[in-house]
Amino acid sequence: MTEAAYSNSLPPSALIFDSGVGAISIAREIRRLLPGLTLHFGIDNGFYPYGIKSEDELRPRIVDQAYRMMSRCRADILVVGCNTASTLALPQLREVLTEPVVGVVPAIKPAAAATQTRTIALIATQGTVNRNYTRELIEQFANGNRVINVPAPELVHLAEAKLRGETVTAEALTPVLARIFHTAGGDKVDIAVLACTHFPLLREELDRFAPRRIQWLDSGEAIARRVRWWLEELNLKTGAQPEQSLLLTSAPDPGGRIAGAFSEFAPLLISSGSPA
Ligand code: DGL
Repeated sequence: MTEAAYSNSLPPSALIFDSGVGAISIAREIRRLLPGLTLHFGIDNGFYPYGIKSEDELRPRIVDQAYRMMSRCRADILVVGCNTASTLALPQLREVLTEPVVGVVPAIKPAAAATQTRTIALIATQGTVNRNYTRELIEQFANGNRVINVPAPELVHLAEAKLRGETVTAEALTPVLARIFHTAGGDKVDIAVLACTHFPLLREELDRFAPRRIQWLDSGEAIARRVRWWLEELNLKTGAQPEQSLLLTSAPDPGGRIAGAFSEFAPLLISSGSPA
């Protein structure tokens, strides 16, 4: 990985925006479906974590940072790889950007179609759980199934820790698992919606330490399909191999921790600090 100016001729690309490593769960799905698409990462680490911040402070911040990062990398599509941001700022982002904006929507609809017990757990940041957007989504698409809201801010930090190489223990997950399974109706949950892009990064541990087998559902694959649809719509053809990705962070990255977490997407150019 190198720190350098980004200039060369530009291949078709998407910028994935998030407060942290949640962008990785989305990027992996996009890579699986579109292996030749160049991906850039816009990480607002200077304002992490998003999930506990107020709507009034978050909305302008997200619009400002995503706009600056899009101008910097000149991507063809913005992917808001963050439920907390998508449930809050998609209309405003679409207003300021001329490029298509793809947002992550909690997978309530597919969960409602698949549940056998008519009981779904929705695991997300406090922000996402409390949003009007999410309430309306449940009203519209839960199809009368019971939805148990599970705010799980600690999973955001645990996903970041895992990507730094730390082990996620059963003890660390116990409080969240209790909020899913040992709550009114929790004994009937058969599907948990992972409505924060950090959470699919912990799917293996959640599955291993859960008291019984359930399905953990996220929106990554649907996002990847939407990106493919936009590429066709824009008539953009990707090559066989992605070209150099750009990792933009809004604040310095001490010890290269964020860069290390994204190393699977090498070759990466790194640009730290708020983009002008
Ligand atoms: N990855 C983000 C999401 O999907 C949230 C993480 C945070 O709280 O910063 O909601």
